[in-house]
This record gives sequence, C-alpha cells and structure tokens, in this order.
Amino acid sequence: MAPVQVKKICCIGAGYVGGPTCAVIALKCPHIQVTIVDLNQARVDAWNSPDFNLPIYEPGLEDVVRQARGRNLFFSTDVDKGIREADLIFVSVNTPTKKSGVGAGFAADLNYVESATRRIAAVATSPKIVVEKSTVPCRTAESMRTILEANSKDGVRFDILSNPEFLAEGTAIADLFSPDRVLIGSLQSQEGKDACAALASVYANWVPRERILTVGLWSSELSKLAANAMLAQRISSVNALSAICEATGANIDEVAHAVGFDSRIGPKFLRASVGFGGSCFQKDILNLVYLSESLHLPQVAEYWRQVVEMNEYQKKRFSKTVVDTLFNTITGKHIAVLGFAFKADTGDTRESASITLIRDFLLERAYVTVYDPKVEEDQMWMDLAEALPSMPLEQIKKQVTIVHSALDACKQKEAIVIATEWKEFKEIDWEAVYAQMSKPAFVFDGRMILDEAKLKKIGFTVKVIGRGDRL
Ligand code: UDX
Ligand code: ADP
Repeated sequence: MAPVQVKKICCIGAGYVGGPTCAVIALKCPHIQVTIVDLNQARVDAWNSPDFNLPIYEPGLEDVVRQARGRNLFFSTDVDKGIREADLIFVSVNTPTKKSGVGAGFAADLNYVESATRRIAAVATSPKIVVEKSTVPCRTAESMRTILEANSKDGVRFDILSNPEFLAEGTAIADLFSPDRVLIGSLQSQEGKDACAALASVYANWVPRERILTVGLWSSELSKLAANAMLAQRISSVNALSAICEATGANIDEVAHAVGFDSRIGPKFLRASVGFGGSCFQKDILNLVYLSESLHLPQVAEYWRQVVEMNEYQKKRFSKTVVDTLFNTITGKHIAVLGFAFKADTGDTRESASITLIRDFLLERAYVTVYDPKVEEDQMWMDLAEALPSMPLEQIKKQVTIVHSALDACKQKEAIVIATEWKEFKEIDWEAVYAQMSKPAFVFDGRMILDEAKLKKIGFTVKVIGRGDRL
C-alpha cells in the first residue's frame, strides 16, 4: 500500500499546541482541509470570533488565522464529525501532571488522551493515521494502539505516529514556520513507514526535507522529554551558578557569556532567572523522574529531580532576598510585582515563577500590586487561589490589587519586583517612578532586563539576580 495522500486533517484539542500548529498547517497547505475540534464551547467560540479575539495570545497567530479561517481552517465542537471525515488525526489534548492516585505529582494524567482515543475508535469508519502530538510518557502510543485496535469498528485500520511539538510559547508561529526539526516516530513496519511518509509530506510543503527526522516510535516519545529536560537543566545549571555569583561578586551575565562562547556549549538558553515556568519543563522532567523510577533506575530519577529542586530553590532564594533586603520584614509593606505570565509574549501563567513569589509575599503579609500586559484578571485570581489553598479568596483580595499599567503598579510602593521579562518594563519612565515611591526605593530584577547603573544613578537600591556583591 502506497502512503496515503492526506486531504483532511482533524486536530483534537484547540489549546496552546493544537491551535497554533494546525492553523499553520492550514496556512501552508491550502489543499488540505484542517478542522480543529474541542469539547470546550467557549474556546471554540473564541477561535471563531468575528473580531479575532482568539483564546490564546501568540505574536503572529491572528494573522495566520485571518488568512486561513473559513478557507481551509475550521474550528468546531463537533468532535465526531471531525474524526469521521479526517485521513489524519492529531491528538493535542492536555496531559497535566496527575493530582491523585498512582504517580500523583509526577506522572502524566492520560485521561484526556485516553478518552480522545476511545472517541476515535468509536466513531471512525475509514482508515486513520492517528498522531500523538501532546507530550506523553514513553509508550503511550502503544496504549493508544491497543485501545484503537480493541475498539475499532469492523476492523478499521489505524496507524499510530508520534510527532511531538517543539514550539515555545511567545515564538510559536516563528518556530512553526521555521522549525529546527520536525520529528516523526513510527513503527518500523511497512505500514508504519508509509504513515510516516504521509505526514512527512504534509510538513514538506514548507519544511526542508533534511529537517524532517523520522525515527522509531519510542525514540520520538523519549526525545521530546529529553529535549525539555536538557533545556531546563541548562537553566538550573546557570541558576545554580547565579547563587555563586551573588555570593562572590561575580556577574552571571559575564559568566554565561564566557561559557556560551565555547561552541560545544553555545550561547542560547543560558539566561539566569528567578526560575523557569511554563506547562512543559517541570511536567516533562517529573515524567522522566517517574519513568526512571518505574524502570528501577533510582539514580537516574534523582539526577533529573534535582533540576526541578534547583528551580524551586531559585524562587525561594529570590523571595528571601526581597525580605532580607527590606530590613528582614515585608509585613504590611507595599510591593509591586511586574509580570504574571511565565515568560514574555504570552498570556500563559502555568507554573509561572511570579505566582510563587506573590504567594511568598502574601504569606509574609505584604500588600502586592500586580500588573501584566496580557494575563486576564480572572486568571490571576484563579492561580493565586490555587497557590494559597489555606488562604480564603477574600483575604487574598485584601492583600492583592490588580492594575492595568506598570506605572500604576509602581505608585507609592516600597519595592518593585520584575517577575517576567516583558519589553515594556524596560521602557518604564524610572525617574517618574522613583519620584513617587517611598524611600529608600528598591528594585529587584529577577529577569536581568533593567539597566542597573541607570537605576542606581536615579537613586534606587537595585538587586539583580546573579550579580554579587551578594544579592
Ligand atoms: C518549552 C520548550 O522551549 C519548547 O521547545 C517545548 O515545546 C515546550 O517547552 P516554553 O515553555 O513555551 O517552551 O518556553 P521557553 O522559552 O522554553 O521558556 C521556559 C521557561 O524558561 C520560561 O519561564 C523562561 O523565562 C525560562 N528561561 C528560558 C530562563 O529562565 N532562562 C533561559 O535562558 C531561557
Ligand atoms: P496544550 O498546552 O497541551 O495545548 P491546553 O490545555 O491548552 O493544552 O489544550 C488542550 C485542549 O484539549 C483543551 O482546550 C481541552 O478542552 C481539549 N480537550 C481535552 N480532552 C478532549 C477531548 N476528549 N476531545 C476534545 N477536546 C479535548
């Protein structure tokens, strides 16, 4: 059997991964009909909104959706119709860390993957290539295959592929337009290879063939976890060094620059920070830890666990610096926190370091004023309530004020904390801010984005992560 020509694609899950990925596929492949389905009506309505008020913020995304929506890109809650019509189905549902049961706190919750897979089996009446797109533990494809084969109607044929997504939020569209690589894993049978070739030719519409890597199913699944674990490990390594810099008077910028000049190490992803966040790094490392433990490899599990622990330590160390510097107490003090998203150019707050910092400040009974250019107020309240299960929401609301500009946030505060590297924070009129702050005025830069010398000249006491004479 020759590889099928993919004419109709269905993507199950219209989230941060499925939405942008399949919108770009639709843009680049006008001859393929792409339907993105989701059970969440509000999300689908937002994707379909006439004024393009899309459910996620991603630079360049609106432009892609404007060009393709209604042409060959559709959003719908009719999951069954999407499945039935498609030759190829991406499964892009969420896989959060399990909150209870076996592997709680570590393993991925595969409930959503399983129900999407069961739906495919129940509804499909013609052969499908089913592509695992969500980051999943190794061997999930195997479980998907078992479910599909056990439940398929009249022996309908399914081929399973793993095609992990490497896009980073905030640069998703650029990453999708020009990926470092596209990874496709398949069984090494002829059918598996044919399915792989069918998906490869979809990407080949805009990705150079040499960047499309085809590997075994399990290698593909593990590569995604490995890539994220190694990226996160770089940040934890540089953050560990930032603590040494603060204690010794070295400057982590200079150290990272010097280290990154080694062509074997390279300059990217060596920025010290108050800690990595996002939906992937912690989740994927914990998955790897769980996998290693299940495979009876406790030393390997411990090795990776330390990457997450270093990240927790970095966040704690930073909030302690704030308390220590503000004369060992922040009770009753007013602190502005600039940034709530886990990184710039996204409205996503999952695992954001900002949430941990604000939680620590609230537990010290400080008053916090927050500003973020993209995160919605409701989202902030939800995240803070979740981070502080022992504090009633009314109490949180007494201590936290959400405002709509950085200048408003900074008004009459004792200290300003930079938690996200939004560009607009660099452009703040710091002289004006200083003029109306109580003195001494403190700035804590957890993202190394401000001009330290300039702020000091204005009169601020400035503490930048990774710069000694001890933070
Ligand atoms: C990451 C991977 O980069 C991507 O390939 C994968 O598909 C999903 O996970 P993402 O979480 O969207 O993407 O963002 P990323 O740019 O990797 O940043 C993650 C966190 O690390 C952010 O909080 C960021 O601020 C932080 N970070 C990044 C640093 O602290 N220092 C750095 O040098 C780089
Ligand atoms: P990710 O960051 O992995 O894209 P998101 O949470 O942003 O995760 O998106 C996952 C989407 O998948 C959600 O919008 C959710 O409603 C959707 N979803 C989960 N399970 C199913 C399912 N069985 N059928 C259709 N959509 C689903």
